Amino acid sequence: AAAPPAGEVIVDWYATAARDLPWRTPGVDPWAVLVSEVMLQQTPVARVEPVWRSWMARWPAPADLAAAPPAEVIRAWGKLGYPRRALRLREAAAAIAERHGGVVPDDVAALEALPGIGAYTARAVACFGYGQRQPVVDTNVRRVVARLVHGRAEAGNARATDLADIAALAPEDDARAVRFSVAVMELGALVCIAGTPRCAACPVRDRCAWRLAGYPAHDGP
Ligand code: ADE
Repeated sequence: AAAPPAGEVIVDWYATAARDLPWRTPGVDPWAVLVSEVMLQQTPVARVEPVWRSWMARWPAPADLAAAPPAEVIRAWGKLGYPRRALRLREAAAAIAERHGGVVPDDVAALEALPGIGAYTARAVACFGYGQRQPVVDTNVRRVVARLVHGRAEAGNARATDLADIAALAPEDDARAVRFSVAVMELGALVCIAGTPRCAACPVRDRCAWRLAGYPAHDGP
């Protein structure tokens, strides 16, 4: 029998191998997703987790954060780094409170119009927070696409093609396509890592173009 499509295999792998992170709880509030994604942009998961927990307990909705004094917001950001992100997040919260009645918008264009929210974060919120089929492409995903699809060691600069490639890999079923978006990111974070990947643990090593080509431009695992 033909092997199942790579996207389906990656979704099944995620069910067994994913980290249990609080912002991935099914039915999680889109605001909680938005906060997690802004924190995760430049800070590792382990440092984000405790700050995210206390942040969500203190400011559970956008209007709560919008009403907080900026100095308090900076202090609560703690050691996450790049504290300007905290102020941008507060500005985004104020825009959500003013323009959207305090509800995080569910469409990508409205999300991208918020202060500090770019293409990646807008799609992450639409996908992980609202369950929409969206290509969510960060550096981990771009590396997986470069290797699995194009047979290259690392991603280049052609960002537009990554969106099309990842859409083509996504399962047909919408619920599985939503899980695929986080699953392929997790594959890049845990297995198909920068430098020397952990191919022995990879669920799609049998059809990886880079592995089949003999790991060009790299020493291999
Ligand atoms: N899950 C969803 N988005 C994530 C991210 N940016 N980093 C780690 N885990 C995530």
